[in-house]
Amino acid sequence: MRILNLGSLNIDKVYSVPHFVSAGETILSGQMETFTGGKGLNQSVAIARAGGEVYHAGAIGTDGKMLSDLLESAGVHLDYLQTLDTVSGHAVIQLNPAGQNCIIVCSGSNGLLTESYIDTVLEDFGPDDILLVQNETNCVAYALREAKNRGMRTAFNASPIDDKILSYPLDKVDYFIINEVEGKALSNCSFDDYEDVLTALRGRFPNAAIVLTVGKDGVLYEDSAVRASHGIYDVPVVDTTAAGDTFCGFFLASLSRGLPVEECLRMASLASSLAVGKKGAANSIPTWDDVISFGESEREKILY
Ligand code: RIB
Repeated sequence: MRILNLGSLNIDKVYSVPHFVSAGETILSGQMETFTGGKGLNQSVAIARAGGEVYHAGAIGTDGKMLSDLLESAGVHLDYLQTLDTVSGHAVIQLNPAGQNCIIVCSGSNGLLTESYIDTVLEDFGPDDILLVQNETNCVAYALREAKNRGMRTAFNASPIDDKILSYPLDKVDYFIINEVEGKALSNCSFDDYEDVLTALRGRFPNAAIVLTVGKDGVLYEDSAVRASHGIYDVPVVDTTAAGDTFCGFFLASLSRGLPVEECLRMASLASSLAVGKKGAANSIPTWDDVISFGESEREKILY
């Protein structure tokens, strides 16, 4: 199974701050570092490092060589990556001492995809392949619809969540890979209990598999045949940026390697735990071998 990831690529400017800035406040940052990022790029890197065959579609600007270089070095196929005569997407990220972040994304080239470009890319893919999309580029709805018309399976990481997502053809999605905030918005569920959110999602999207990450409580999975869950690992947190992307990429790559769902959840959980131990987005994503070693080590203690 090949994975076509139509996704964003960002230059991440990461500002270390004592606390997140409040309205009307000015604060000093002790350090600014530049990393490769973007939910799409991070997920492609995670898939490739997990041994999946991934093609990245999307657009960088003329300043985006560091983004294509990183993808290439990770083993991502770049046959469809466009370079447009504009600036790349970028993100302004505040990183606090607890390793949490606040992110502002400016779309740049990620917002300039066209339907004819997507048609051209999709020409080369079919029923044996899966389309992965997030919500950081334009043309997401079109891509989901057209991929399904070609018999592809589809995976949607509904991040960042916004109102326009609800107008997408969500009935075309085979895998939702989402967190609890996204799950509540997609299911229009006001309950706080994760099981209720999962039930609401399954009721609304009965043909889809739901992968619902629920913070410190791990992840819940349900499709029409399987129900599974997995806990989180006890690791030091340096930077949570791209932990969700790492989870998403490892989950899909594990599926594409033919692993059972329970094992896909385990590999994805291990990988995202490793990712939070390192600063930055794409560069914090481990390899398959790193994850295997971590899983075998004594540090594998699941917190429930
Ligand atoms: O998910 C993390 C990513 O969100 C960052 O790399 C940033 O670019 C934003 O897209």
